[in-house]
Amino acid sequence: MHVLPVLAAVLVSTLLASLSPAAVAAAPCVVTSFHALKKCLTSTNIVLQGPFIVPSNHKIDMSSLKKGTHVTVKGLIKFAHSTKLTKSDYLFTLGGESIIFDGKEGTFHGNGQQYWDTKGTNGGNKKPKFIKVRTTGQSVIKGLTIKNSPAHTFSITGSDTTLKRITIDNSDGDKQKGGKAVGHNTDGFDVSGKHITIKDSTIKNQDDCLSVASGHHIYFLNNTCTGGNGISVGSIASHKSVSHIRVENCTVADSDIGIRIKTIAEAEDGKVEDVHFKDIVLKDIRKRGVSIRQDYLNAGPTMTPTDGIPISNVRLTNVQGTMAKGAKHSTFVLCAACDGFKFTNVKITGATPSCTGVEKTLVGCT
Ligand SMILES: *[C@@H]1O[C@H](CO)[C@@H](O)[C@H](O)[C@H]1NC(C)=O
Ligand SMILES: *[C@@H]1O[C@H](CO)[C@@H](O)[C@H](O)[C@H]1NC(C)=O
Repeated sequence: MHVLPVLAAVLVSTLLASLSPAAVAAAPCVVTSFHALKKCLTSTNIVLQGPFIVPSNHKIDMSSLKKGTHVTVKGLIKFAHSTKLTKSDYLFTLGGESIIFDGKEGTFHGNGQQYWDTKGTNGGNKKPKFIKVRTTGQSVIKGLTIKNSPAHTFSITGSDTTLKRITIDNSDGDKQKGGKAVGHNTDGFDVSGKHITIKDSTIKNQDDCLSVASGHHIYFLNNTCTGGNGISVGSIASHKSVSHIRVENCTVADSDIGIRIKTIAEAEDGKVEDVHFKDIVLKDIRKRGVSIRQDYLNAGPTMTPTDGIPISNVRLTNVQGTMAKGAKHSTFVLCAACDGFKFTNVKITGATPSCTGVEKTLVGCT
């Protein structure tokens, strides 16, 4: 036996391994309390090691990380109830280029149950939004569990970012008060960006599961949305445009709306172009299965569509499911400027369609 050469080979390979890029990655800078965060912000390998509490009226700001930084979340991080933060504040901000954020062993708890009063961000208690993402350059955010967001959960304004295997559980907000869910405006993902993918995720909330306000090349794939207002392109306001949106292989259950496109009444100088909803399952939708309308107002739609933000090239392919008892419409279209709609295999049972401003012969409109 030539033990020595074998040993030497092992030593050499160990040495080489220690020089490889993975091994020269920075030693982790471990954050075990809110006040320990600051000294780690310049590290390229940050571990947020719960359990710890972010004190009342404080936020975690990781908006200017170094390029290529890895952030790992472990354990439970709770954000204490704040009295001063408002809807223009975010409890957590992530920004930087080529960021890898791995939350599979971690949970962010927003203590929403201490803010919720049925009014969302329209009034009542002040409520911060939860997570702002403005990453770029092939960033990945994966695996995080999020509990009880005070208001909107994710606001994504960056580019070239993938979010996957995210769990948002705001189901505690379904609790009723005076006939209304206490949670309101608890949107899952609000997107105003480009080249954004959100996939393999589960969202339980009381408002839009996805809401795209502007941007292009936005992919929403293999997600399950329960309890809220469904998957929405819009509301699109003046001077905003969206194009190339793909929603595929998603389920929407126990929600007011299934899938929708909405532009704001009287808005102008924008467009909605090239939107494809494919392989969508709807279950027990309470109001409208498919809703495409150009009369939207937050206070209540006008029922008079306007043509300032035209909607073109919308495809629905394999959209199937059921409406809840008493639902308004299986498919609802209210258009003043819509063209190039192609609906294939749209089968929603339990309510009747209503389509205005498009060919009455569209599948799902008859
Ligand atoms: C779709 O998402 C679910 C989680 O909701 C996951 O278990 C499954 O693997 C995903 N499918 C693919 C093809 O990644
Ligand atoms: C589509 O969704 C089903 C049911 O959630 C899942 O099992 C499957 O992996 C998904 N396929 C893709 C390609 O994501």
